[in-house]
Amino acid sequence: MDNRFGKLISYEQNKNQIKVTYANGEVFFTVVKDDIIRVTVPYFCKDYISKAMEQDKSQDAEFSVQKSAEKVAIVTSKLQLVIADNFTTEFYSADGQLLVRDYCGDRTVEKRVSWETMEMLEAEGHDTSNLQEDQIRFQIVKTIEDGDDFYGLGDKSGFMNKKHYEYENWNSDLPQAHNEDFKALYKSVPILMCLKKSAAYGIFFDNTFRSKINLGKENPEYYFYTAEEGNLDYYFIAGTDLRDIVSGYTYLTGTTPLPQMWTLGYQQSRWGYECADDINYVVDNYRKEQIPLDVIHFDIDYMEHYKVFTWDEKNYGPKGELFDSLRARGVKPVTIIDPGTKLEKGYFMCDEGTEKGYFATDKDGDIYVNAVWPGDSNFPDFGREEVRNWWADKHQILVDMGVAGVWNDMNEPASFHGELPQDVVFYDEDRKTTHAEMHNLYGHLMSKSTFEGLKAQTGKRPFVITRACYAGTQKYSTVWTGDNQSLWHHLQMMIPQLCNLGLSGFAFCGTDVGGFGADCTPELLCRWIEAGCFSPLFRNHSAKGTKKQEPWRFGQEVVDINRKYIELRYKFLPYIYDLFYQGETTGLPVMRPLVLHYPNDPEVRDLNSEYLVGEAILVAPVLEQGVTRRMVYLPEGVWYDYWTGERVEGKQYILREAPIDVCPIYIKAGSLIPTYDVVQYVGEKPYDRVTLLATPGEARYTHFQDNGEDYAYQEGAYNLYEFVVDESEKLHTNMIHKGYTPYEEITIQWIGK
Ligand code: GLC
Repeated sequence: MDNRFGKLISYEQNKNQIKVTYANGEVFFTVVKDDIIRVTVPYFCKDYISKAMEQDKSQDAEFSVQKSAEKVAIVTSKLQLVIADNFTTEFYSADGQLLVRDYCGDRTVEKRVSWETMEMLEAEGHDTSNLQEDQIRFQIVKTIEDGDDFYGLGDKSGFMNKKHYEYENWNSDLPQAHNEDFKALYKSVPILMCLKKSAAYGIFFDNTFRSKINLGKENPEYYFYTAEEGNLDYYFIAGTDLRDIVSGYTYLTGTTPLPQMWTLGYQQSRWGYECADDINYVVDNYRKEQIPLDVIHFDIDYMEHYKVFTWDEKNYGPKGELFDSLRARGVKPVTIIDPGTKLEKGYFMCDEGTEKGYFATDKDGDIYVNAVWPGDSNFPDFGREEVRNWWADKHQILVDMGVAGVWNDMNEPASFHGELPQDVVFYDEDRKTTHAEMHNLYGHLMSKSTFEGLKAQTGKRPFVITRACYAGTQKYSTVWTGDNQSLWHHLQMMIPQLCNLGLSGFAFCGTDVGGFGADCTPELLCRWIEAGCFSPLFRNHSAKGTKKQEPWRFGQEVVDINRKYIELRYKFLPYIYDLFYQGETTGLPVMRPLVLHYPNDPEVRDLNSEYLVGEAILVAPVLEQGVTRRMVYLPEGVWYDYWTGERVEGKQYILREAPIDVCPIYIKAGSLIPTYDVVQYVGEKPYDRVTLLATPGEARYTHFQDNGEDYAYQEGAYNLYEFVVDESEKLHTNMIHKGYTPYEEITIQWIGK
C-alpha cells in the first residue's frame, strides 16, 4: 500500500500484463505462471532485465481479471490477487485463504535515542548504524498473521526462522565473529519465504540496490522491505508449503546444476600453504593416514605478489609440475582468483585492462583505485559482456596449468581503504550506472564469467566457488559462508545458514569446517567434521596465524574421527549425487531443514540443531562443547538409528548418547540409499558396484549414474535405475534409462533387521 497512488481508476490488459492506473501513478501486475505474479513500479528503469533471471520467465497461464466497484482481481488456478485504492494488495490461495495483505496502518518507527546519546554510544565504539535514518526509495509493508514463520534470505546469520529479526542486502566482508545480530553478510539473496499455519508463500524482491527487510522486529504486526533506489519489483509465489516456494523461486532464478562427482569429495585448504613442500606434505599425510581427499585449495600465496593469473615459480616450482604430481596422487587443485587486479605497469592484466578500458572508473573517468591483497588495485567492470569474456578467457592460463576449479573471493567487492564510493562508475551492459546498483551483483557477474570460461575451456561441469553473490548465482557457482571462526556458535550456525541457503536456491554450499579465524580445538574439529560431513561443500579451511587445522595437528583420536566421518561421506556420495541430480530439476536442496518436509509439525519450525539429507537421512550432531549426549527430535514415522539399527518411533524427543566419535544419524523407514565402497579419492577405482542401504518397509528409489564429469548425460549418456523393495522385502531393479556402463553388482544391506 502507498497513499501517494490515490484512487484506483482503471485497468488495461496486454497479454499477461495488467496495468492498473491510479489517480497518481501506474502499477504493473504480470501473471508469470499460475502460482507466480510479478508486481512492478518502474521508478528507476522501464525495461529492466533481471540479473537473477536473465530472461522473461512468463508462461501461458490461464487467468481472469475482474473489476468490481473499486477493486481489480486477478485470478489464476492457484492464486488470487485483489488490488484496491492506494496500491493496496491482498493475496489469497485458490481456495480463498488469505496469504498476505498490505499493512494499512502507519509504521511505528521508533526514534530510540537523541543525537547526544548517539554521540556517546559512538564514542564508546557502539555500532549506531541501526539508529540512523534510512534512505528509502519505496517501502513494502505487509501484515504478519498469527502462525507465520519466515525462512530463506540466503546466508543471513542467526537462526532458521527469521521472524523478529532484521536484515540488509548489501554484500559485506566483515571480519568480526558473525553473530545473530549481523544485518548483512557476503550474499544478497532477497527471497523471503513465509510458512503459514496451512499454506505458504514467497516474495522475491528483485532489486540490487541496498535494501532492508524487517520481519516484525519493528512491530510484530507487520514486516517491511525498503530499498534505497531501483524499481519496486517483486514476484509473489503461492504454495501449500515451502517445497512449492522453493520450486517457484528456482523456476525463476534457476536451479543448482549437477556438479562433477569429485567436487563432492573432501577438500583441504589453508591460507597459506606457502610453497610446494607445504602442499606436498599435506597431501602425502592424507594418503599416509588413509583419510580420503579429493581437492587441495591454493589460496592467494601461489601467485606472484598476489597478481591474479600468475604463478610463483620460486616457491611452487615450474608451472604445471606440482599440479601434475597432485593429479598423479588423485588430488585436484583449485586456485583462488580475486577480482582486484594489481595496479602495476608491465603486468599484463593491468596493461590490457587499462588499454581496453575494462576497469571501473571514478565519476570523472579516471580508473578507480583501492587496495586489496596486491596493494593498489583496479576492479574489472563485470557488468559488461566484453569484460566478462576477457576475464573468462584468462582462465585458459589456469586450465593449461591443470587447475580443476576456481575459487572466487573478495568479490563483494572487498577493499581495504574503505568501501568503494557509491558513485564509482560501472556498467549494466551498455547502460552506464554506479556501484550503488552493481555492488550486490559484482560476485554474481564475476562467477558467471568464471563459469563460462571454464565451461568453454574444459567441456566439464565447472567447479566455481564464490563468496559474494546475488539471487540466481547458483546457476554458476557453489558458495561458502566466508570467514567464520573456530567458535562453537559458528558450528551451531552452520545448520540454519546452510539450510536457508539451500531453500534460497543454493543447493551447493558449505562452511569452512573447523572455522577460518581463531584457533580450533580437537573437540571442535571432531564435532564440525561430524556435523558437516553431509554439508554439500565439505572443506576444511583456516586462516594464516591460526592453529593449523589438518586432522593430525590434534592427535590420533582426532585423526581417527576425521577418517570415520570422511569415509562416511565417501560411502554416501552416490546418494548426495542423486540429490543433486534431482535438484537440477526440482530445485530442492541436498541439506534440508526439517520444516521443509514436516510443515505441519510445530516442533520443527524453529529447529536449528538437526537437518535432513534429502528425505531419508536425519543428522543430529552435537553442537556444544563438553556435551556427550543430546536430545534428538524425530518427526512422524519410524526411524532407524544408523549406528545401532535400533527402531525408534517418530514424533518424539529421544535422548541419544553421543560420545566424541558419535554423530547421531537416523534413517527413515522404507528408505533405499545407494552407497559406494570407500576410496581415497573419486576416480581411484571405477564405481562398478553399488550397495543399497535399506530400512524395513516398502521402498522405491530412483538412482542416477553417469561419468560424473561432463555434459554427456544431457545427451543421454547415463543410467537411471528404479529400485523397488516390495512387501516381502525383495529387491527389484528396473533400468528406466540405459546410456552408460551399468554396475556389475547391486547388493542390498539392511539396517534394523
Ligand atoms: C578472505 C577469504 C578467505 C581467504 C583469505 C585470503 O578472507 O574469505 O577464505 O583465505 O581471504 O585469501
